[in-house]
Amino acid sequence: MLVLENINSFYDKSHVLFDLSINVGEGELVSLLGRNGAGKSTTLLSIMGLVKNATGSVRYKGQEILGQATHKTAADGLCLVPEQRDIFQDLTVEENLKIAQQRNSPWSIADIYELFPRLQERRKNGGGQLSGGEQQMLALARALLNNPRVLLLDEPSEGLAPVIVKEIVEILKKIKQSGISILLVEQNLRVCEVLADRHYILEQGRLIYEAKREDFSSDEAETIKQKYLSV
Ligand SMILES: Nc1ncnc2c1ncn2[C@@H]1O[C@H](COP(=O)(O)OP(=O)(O)O)[C@@H](O)[C@H]1O
Ligand SMILES: [Mg+2]
Repeated sequence: MLVLENINSFYDKSHVLFDLSINVGEGELVSLLGRNGAGKSTTLLSIMGLVKNATGSVRYKGQEILGQATHKTAADGLCLVPEQRDIFQDLTVEENLKIAQQRNSPWSIADIYELFPRLQERRKNGGGQLSGGEQQMLALARALLNNPRVLLLDEPSEGLAPVIVKEIVEILKKIKQSGISILLVEQNLRVCEVLADRHYILEQGRLIYEAKREDFSSDEAETIKQKYLSV
């Protein structure tokens, strides 16, 4: 579905990703783990064409998309939910949803309220009045209304209380069940272990480990997690 091959990304002269090759299959949820600064966000930004200097190949359904305009990639069906969550603070929840809605999306606002009952409760509230968890839900909801085939999620659990993280995990399970492919960037190992079919670990811009779900609790995997993911 989504295949990255030998991606090298740079910010000016600073080389941040080194020959990164990863892929996400149809309907798969794949985690990309790594410490702060490992290059996780840069990977997502590179896919979306938001890193000016990125070389290599990103293929989506067999088509090369690296270097094409971001709006074209979004129209192709890839949607990034950035760490900053990008919601309109001065608009209500419902207004935020309405302006995200695409005519061809299979998701209606009613579907969204079914998936996110909290957003229905808060529909008249301003984006700026929402808690961190509610903002993350709104960002996910807005992404769904764009009718994505692939969701790129940048640390959806970041800064959220454990009980809210649980809610987000349940929502992500349902989104996965709907058939959308997901590349999940996280520092929260537990969230990835619960959700992902496969895992990648990045360290200083290099892929240092990959494992299927069933192999991610092997002794080898536990050693790697200790070494590269613990603080
Ligand atoms: N806009 C930028 N300009 C220059 N360097 C950046 C920029 N964004 C990130 N970096 C650097 O690139 C590296 C990878 O960052 P990032 O992809 O944000 O890591 P992560 O998301 O894994 O925390 C870090 O060393 C970071 O300081
Ligand atoms: Mg990041």
